[in-house]
Amino acid sequence: MSWNQKHLLDIESLSSDEILTVLDTARAFKAVGERAIKKVPALRGKTVVNLFVEPSTRTRISFELAEQRLSADIINFSADASSFKKGETLKDTALNLEALNADFIVIRHSASGAPHFLSRVLDARVINAGDGAHEHPTQALLDAFTIRERKGNIEGLNVTILGDILYSRVARSNIWALTKLGARVTLCGPSTLVPKTFEQMGCGVTYNVDEALQTADILLLLRIQHERQRKTMFPGISEYTQLYGLNKARLAKTKSEALIMHPGPINRGVEIDSEIADCERSLILEQVTNGLAVRMAVLFLLNGGKGPQELA
Ligand code: CP
Repeated sequence: MSWNQKHLLDIESLSSDEILTVLDTARAFKAVGERAIKKVPALRGKTVVNLFVEPSTRTRISFELAEQRLSADIINFSADASSFKKGETLKDTALNLEALNADFIVIRHSASGAPHFLSRVLDARVINAGDGAHEHPTQALLDAFTIRERKGNIEGLNVTILGDILYSRVARSNIWALTKLGARVTLCGPSTLVPKTFEQMGCGVTYNVDEALQTADILLLLRIQHERQRKTMFPGISEYTQLYGLNKARLAKTKSEALIMHPGPINRGVEIDSEIADCERSLILEQVTNGLAVRMAVLFLLNGGKGPQELA
């Protein structure tokens, strides 16, 4: 077991041992969640601020529930009702939160690097809940947890990530996590959204959808990130769906045991047919369930927890 991080800012700077420590600890927390009493005192007396400056459903709610299960005091910061509106900076906002004794800041921000910036100006521990198109580390950790739980091992698996890679923080964090754990990652999508430069991260790039689907043990779909695209990167949504959307005909070309994942929110009928999103090979809601245990594990380890043995 190893964990040497003060903050969780990205997956790029984690070792494979540290990733596995999170996954093993999350497995123990998932077991705790199946007990009659689901709460543990690990963060009693600690204050966690959820500083979400960009919309979120899954990440925000599962962090809040994880903090409740760990017995922390919680502050949910609402950007729209804050003095951001009066021109207060992110740094001043965070310093004020720390002046109120915040021990942890969980931040989602549209600017890449916002969590790294806070980690340099605060004593509090900082967790990146998604920064621009840079990284979304807890999403990749919960995806790795889900794959390991279903497939037993990640090493040697073929994982295809299909969709808008260029603007996706989920793609970047998953490429780092899955390649560190020994998976072969292939990226596929329109060439404008899947530049060949991603190969420098240790993954493959193909523009042949059939080839990307046929080899996959795990098919990770991504939505088009309209909010981050500064110009139209392809002719239109209907053409995207026709060329890259996962429909029955394309699903028939995959291995029968290949599993389908998506970080959400899904756009039914665009990157995935509605029926496929709900089929038994889809892990989409299982990923959400596992996010709770993974976020509990991250908070626990950042608070000085040593690993799953402490939860036995
Ligand atoms: N997967 C994910 O980050 O979803 P939210 O934006 O709803 O948190």
